[in-house]
Amino acid sequence: MGLGRRFTRLPRKDVQQPPNLNKVNTMNPSAADLQQRLRELRDRLHHYNHCYHLLDAPAITDGEYDRLFAELLALERQFPDWITPDSPSQRVGAKPVGRFAEVQHGTPMLSLDNLFQDADLDDFDRRVREGLSRDEAIDYVAEPKLDGVAVSLLYRQGLLQRAATRGDGLVGEEVTAQLRTIAVVPLQLAGAGTIPDLLEVRGEVYMPLAGFARWNQAARERGEKPFTNPRNAAAGSLRQLDAKMTAERPLHFFCHGLGQWEGGTRPETHAAILQQLQAWRLPVCDLWEQVVGAAGCLDYYQRMAARRADLPFEIDGVVYKVNRLVERERLGFVARSPRWAAAHKFPPREESTVLLGVDFQVGRTGVLTPVARLQPVQVGGVTVSNATLHNFQELALKDVRVGDTVMVRRAGDVIPEVVGVVPDKRPADAVAIALPTHCPACGAAVVQVPEMVAVRCTGGRACFAQRKEGIKHFVSRRAMDIEGMGDRLVDLLVREGLVTDWADIFALAEQRQRLCALDRLGEKSVDNLLLAIEAAKQRYLGPFLFALGIRDVGESIAHNLARHFGTLEQVMAADREALEGVAEVGSVVAERVRDFFQDAHNRVLLDRLRQVSGTHWEHVPPGEPAQTAQPLAGKTVVLTGTLHHMTRQEAKARLEGLGAKVSGSVSERTFLVVVGESPGSKRQRAEALGVRIMTEAELLRLLETKMLLD
Ligand code: IVH
Repeated sequence: MGLGRRFTRLPRKDVQQPPNLNKVNTMNPSAADLQQRLRELRDRLHHYNHCYHLLDAPAITDGEYDRLFAELLALERQFPDWITPDSPSQRVGAKPVGRFAEVQHGTPMLSLDNLFQDADLDDFDRRVREGLSRDEAIDYVAEPKLDGVAVSLLYRQGLLQRAATRGDGLVGEEVTAQLRTIAVVPLQLAGAGTIPDLLEVRGEVYMPLAGFARWNQAARERGEKPFTNPRNAAAGSLRQLDAKMTAERPLHFFCHGLGQWEGGTRPETHAAILQQLQAWRLPVCDLWEQVVGAAGCLDYYQRMAARRADLPFEIDGVVYKVNRLVERERLGFVARSPRWAAAHKFPPREESTVLLGVDFQVGRTGVLTPVARLQPVQVGGVTVSNATLHNFQELALKDVRVGDTVMVRRAGDVIPEVVGVVPDKRPADAVAIALPTHCPACGAAVVQVPEMVAVRCTGGRACFAQRKEGIKHFVSRRAMDIEGMGDRLVDLLVREGLVTDWADIFALAEQRQRLCALDRLGEKSVDNLLLAIEAAKQRYLGPFLFALGIRDVGESIAHNLARHFGTLEQVMAADREALEGVAEVGSVVAERVRDFFQDAHNRVLLDRLRQVSGTHWEHVPPGEPAQTAQPLAGKTVVLTGTLHHMTRQEAKARLEGLGAKVSGSVSERTFLVVVGESPGSKRQRAEALGVRIMTEAELLRLLETKMLLD
C-alpha cells in the first residue's frame, strides 16, 4: 500500500520526539538544520516501515506516515545531493523476517507516488505529457487503490506455481500455500486467450469489510484482541505459517497488473491486460475505467470518493496508470516508483487524538458499551468526538487509559472506533478505567455476562435507556425505515413521554398538535414524519421482524423467517422444530424467537401495535412458485449502485419472491440489471451485452404490479 502505511508501535528509543516537534519551520533554516531534519525523517520512516511491514504492530496513523514521507520527498527534491542510498525514498519496504522462504522477484515490485491534492494530479499529468513530448490528453486507466497486501502470483503453463509478498520490492516472502487457500485465486488458468508460458500476476490480498467485521465480532466474543483494520487483518492472515489458519480467514484477492510475461502475445494496453486476466478467470475488480487526461482522472476520483463508503472493501485512494504500454516504457521509473502511474489518496480513515474520558452507553439489550470521549479530531473529513471502545474485555486488552493518545478509525457507515493506544505517548498521570457497578441510565445493578464479554444492566424493561434504544432500532433504516426519526428525535419523543413503545409511534398522528409544539419540529417536518410513519405500515415482514429487536435475529435471519412463514401470525405460532427448519436458524436462535413471542408482555405490545397501526405486516413474497405471479421465474438479475427505497437484502428477497436468481456479476445469461445511484461498471457491461436495464423506480413498479416482462 505504498505510503499508506498504518501505524506502528514503540518508536525508537533514540528518536523520542513527536514527528513534528523538530520540524524545520524557521524562514531560513541552516544547512545543518535541514540535514538534521532529513536524518531524523529517515530514521523514523525506517523504523515505522519495519514495524508496519514486518511486525504488523500498529501505532502511528496512515496520515502521519504520509505527512512525514511527503516532507522527506519534498526536502530531497529540493536538495537531491543529500539523498542517501538508505533513504526510505530509495527502496520500497523492509527485508523479510525469514520465517518464510525468501523469493527473489524477477522484476522489482515497485511502489506508487502519492498525490494528495488535485494540484498534484495536474503535476503528475504534466510530467507524463512532458515525458512523452505530447500536448494531447493522455489515455489512463483509473482503478481503486485496494487497501491490502501486495502479492505476486507466478503461473507456469497456466498452473499456479508460486506466490510471494512484496517484501522490500526485490525480495519477498513465499506465501504459496497461504494464497492457495483463497478461493478466488485460480490454481489453474483457463478460458479465452492463449496462456503464456510464464505469467506473473500482481495484485492485492484484502479482507472484505463484512468478513473483517464478522471476524472481529467473533474475536471479541472469544475475548481475543481484534484486528485494528482490514489491511492488518489481511497481512496478519497471510503471515500465518500454518496455511490452515489462513484458510479460516475471509480473504479475497484482486489483480491489478503484470510482472513477468514469457511466450504468447502481450496485450498493448493496460485495459486489454485487465480484460485478458479476467478472461483467464483471474479476479479483477470491476470498478476500473478508461479515462482521458487529468480531468477524466479527477472525475473518477470524485466518483470513487462518493462511493467509498458503500464499497464492500476498503480503498484508500485511486490509481492512475498510463494505458499504452509503449508509452510506459518511454516514461520509465524513478528510484522507487514508475513515472507512468500514481496513487491519488483519499483522506485517511485513521487519526490519533487524546482520550478525555469514558462514558457507558446502555444498548437495547442492556449491554453497557464503553464509549470514548475524545478531543475532537478530523477523520476522513468528519469531526469525531466520540468513538466506541466495544466492550470491557477489549478495553482491558488494549489497556486504554484516560489521558492516552489513541488511534481512531472511521470507515464508511461504521461507528468510529478506538483501535489502539500509542504507548509512548502515555502521560504519567493516565487513569485506568473502572468497571461500572450500576447502570448509568436506571441505576440498577449490572451483571457480568461471561460468555459475552459483556456487562449488562439488570433493569430490563424498567430501564429507560433499554426501551429508548429498542425504539431507535425499530425505526432505523434497515428496520421500519421511518425517515426523519433519527436518534435525537427519538430521545425527544421519549423524554416528552410521547413514545414509550412501538405502538405509540403509530399513534403519533393523533398527537399532531403536541408534536408541532415541540421545540425542534416545524409543521412541515411533523407532516413529513407522519407520512413516513404511514409509509412504514407498508414495510415487509422481514424488516418488521428485524425491527422487533429479537436477540440474535439479524437482518438476514429476519428475512429468512419472513420468507419461510409469510405472516407474522405464523412466525408467532411456530414451534422450535418449525423454526429450526428456517435457513440460518439453529437451536439458540429458535429458542430466542420462541421466547420472544411467548413472552406475555411482548404479546400485549404486539397486539397493541397491530391494533393501533391497523397492519399485520403480513405480506412477503412467498417462496413457493405456485403461490404468486413469478414474472422473473428462473431469470438472473443483478443489482448495482445504491438503492434508496430498500436495502440490497430486501431488494434481493423481493426479487427472489418473483422467482429471480440474484447474482453479483453481469454475463450474457443476465436477464435484467437494476441500477441504483452511481452504478459501477456493471451498467456499462450490461449495455455492452445488450442486457435489459431497469431503474429503481421501475423495479418498484415491477414489484408492485408483478407484471410479466417480455
Ligand atoms: S499498481 C508499479 N494498482 O499499492 C505499480 N497498486 O504503492 C504497482 N495497490 O504495492 C502497483 N491497489 O499493492 C496498483 N489498483 C492498484 C492498486 C495497487 C492497491 C497497492 C499495491 C502496491 C501499492 C503501491
